[in-house]
Amino acid sequence: MVLTAEDKKLIQQTWGKLGGAEEEIGAESLWRMFHSYPPTKTYFPHFDLGKGSAQVKAHGKKVAAALVEAANHIDDIAGALSKLSDLHAQKLRVDPVNFKLLGQCFLVVVASHHPALLTPEVHASLDKFLCAVGTVLTAKYR
Ligand code: HEM
Repeated sequence: MVLTAEDKKLIQQTWGKLGGAEEEIGAESLWRMFHSYPPTKTYFPHFDLGKGSAQVKAHGKKVAAALVEAANHIDDIAGALSKLSDLHAQKLRVDPVNFKLLGQCFLVVVASHHPALLTPEVHASLDKFLCAVGTVLTAKYR
């Protein structure tokens, strides 16, 4: 997955334009993933997955923070997310297909909250970024 200089610029600009709403977007993306793709719920048997759930909100905040961290270290996503990579691939053993599902939900949520922001160019760059994050988090899955 090669992120061009233009992709990197668009990704960083986009995070800036979300204006602090990323935690909410993270939580809504998770909620959407659990309910659009119910098998993803199996990784979270200990969570209350209802709308407005405090656990989903708190987890959305963590996921958003990790994405911001990745965007801030866009030339070394693997280094920035190294611990999370061990967690997802080796400890939680999250099947790689799930990352595509969460990425898709994330794009849908950004589009529904910020339709003007998600131009086709931003859509493509954000999708590449989410794929790059997913590749890092699944690299050690065997
Ligand atoms: C963009 C992709 C993702 C990012 C950035 C991400 C980020 C995170 C972060 C930051 C944590 C918390 C780690 C900690 O507390 O130290 C976490 C935990 C977790 N993640 Fe992910 N994650 C992603 C995708 C997924 C997917 C697709 C699944 C499964 C469908 C998943 C399942 C889990 C589970 C089960 C936990 C532990 C939850 C708990 O018990 O608190 N993650 N993730």
